[in-house]
Amino acid sequence: MFRTHVAGVGSYLPEKILTNYDLEKMVDTSHDWIVQRTGIEKRHVVADDEGCSDLCVKAAQRALVDAKMTIDQIDLILVATVSPDYKMPATACLVQAKLGAKNIMAFDLNAACSGFIYGLFVADQFIKTGAYKHILVIGAENLTRLLNYKDRDTCILFGDGAGAFVVSQAPDTEKNYLMTAHAHAEGAYAELLWAKGGGTRHPFTQQVLDEGGHFMQMRGKEIFKNATRTMAACCREALEATHIAPEQLDWIVPHQANMRITEAVAGQFNFPMEKIVSTVHETGNTSAASIPIAFDMAYKDGRIKRGQLILLTAFGAGLTSGSAILRF
Ligand code: ACO
Repeated sequence: MFRTHVAGVGSYLPEKILTNYDLEKMVDTSHDWIVQRTGIEKRHVVADDEGCSDLCVKAAQRALVDAKMTIDQIDLILVATVSPDYKMPATACLVQAKLGAKNIMAFDLNAACSGFIYGLFVADQFIKTGAYKHILVIGAENLTRLLNYKDRDTCILFGDGAGAFVVSQAPDTEKNYLMTAHAHAEGAYAELLWAKGGGTRHPFTQQVLDEGGHFMQMRGKEIFKNATRTMAACCREALEATHIAPEQLDWIVPHQANMRITEAVAGQFNFPMEKIVSTVHETGNTSAASIPIAFDMAYKDGRIKRGQLILLTAFGAGLTSGSAILRF
């Protein structure tokens, strides 16, 4: 068996910024309310001509540079997203063409905010078994196009962006590797967070559009409770699987949904907040992109260093959840 080594990391945030003060002019909300309830101060928003695949390409190119690799070395492109360019084909195929990759496997994975951990889990299987040597795992979202800017419950929370890892095959003696990954789903709670119109169950009709059924809808309090419950359980699972004590971790990079969710999870393990990477104040919730974006920001500003022990954990629509521990 081989081991999965994170060879390179990159991310991209669109230039345009939407602040809480901008939102005050759009819905009945306030900067103070949003900061107090979520920790979010601003979020990045795609340009009119930017699609999810464009975000992927920029993050992937940066990850390839970091890995000192070229696209022709990549064997598989995996894009985790709930906001693809099109219903079909997969955004990963568009990314493959835009990056000029050879005729390699490319597919999308929909696990909402847990998508990047699901992606790492899947990539790890291909690498451990020797099927592939180098895989681009990308988390990317264009969520602001799924938001109803008349619904203050949701439109304040989300932003756009992408993050990517190049993961590579390493010998089973490699010290810096993905030590464990876990992924779960509780489909019985699917209705707590969904966009129910525009699929095949409720295809686009004038009624769907008039009722805003194509926008994301969320039951915030239930999501909050389930997020803290499942993320804590997933952290516990990864720690137990590796026999690592919380105090041995250098960093935790949680899904960036809400500062209060992060604090509640950290509190269950007595993780000091200084060990937790938080970017939610400047990115909002970027769903599948949030972990690789936060990871990359902390790596590029020197907080995360090679050789450190890092726990990732996420929760999202589905309800999906997951965790991973890697020595970077
Ligand atoms: N601005 C101002 N007031 C608001 C807003 C807003 N944007 N939204 C709701 N309110 C009001 C409510 O109407 C309510 O008013 P009332 O007391 O007069 O009835 C009051 O604020 C309190 O509302 P609550 O819903 O009780 O607020 P809560 O403290 O639960 O916070 C929030 C709401 C921030 C959405 C919280 O429930 C939350 O963070 N949930 C998790 C959401 C999340 O992270 N989702 C994504 C995770 S999964 C994924 O990442 C895909």
